[in-house]
Amino acid sequence: MKLLLLNGPNLRLLGTREPEIYGRFTLADAEALACETAERLGAEMDCFQSDIEGELVSVIGAARGEYDGIVINPAAYTHTSVALRDAIAASELPAVELHISNTHRREEFRRVSFTAPVCVAQIQGFGLKGYELAVEGLVDFIRANGKEAAK
Ligand code: DQA
Repeated sequence: MKLLLLNGPNLRLLGTREPEIYGRFTLADAEALACETAERLGAEMDCFQSDIEGELVSVIGAARGEYDGIVINPAAYTHTSVALRDAIAASELPAVELHISNTHRREEFRRVSFTAPVCVAQIQGFGLKGYELAVEGLVDFIRANGKEAAK
């Protein structure tokens, strides 16, 4: 089973970015935890971060047939991007949307997610731990739904 972890804009700044909201862990810490979790569960994981919406769209567009599922923290694009939503839907891959913070406890504009309706589940508010929970949930979902297609 091959999984893809995608992190969106400004998440490369984790560790120093608004630590009172996002904590002190880095993007490398989050990617390492996701990869370790995948490995523990017998899956492989590739990681990609971009600040650029179109790059994320292109990577999702190329994921079909290559990966069995996606964990994505779309960051601010969650609340704005029809293009990312359409890319996830077109991939026909199970995706789990992940947020470090609980967006419902924050500004009103963060309560809307363009991407959640095309994901199988959403995890938010657990900080770094969310990266482990998202991978566990996605692997369980793929195994239960027999969608293991890629090598
Ligand atoms: C975030 C929440 C988004 O609202 C915000 O724009 C981010 C990070 C999170 O992980 O909590 O950049 O996706």
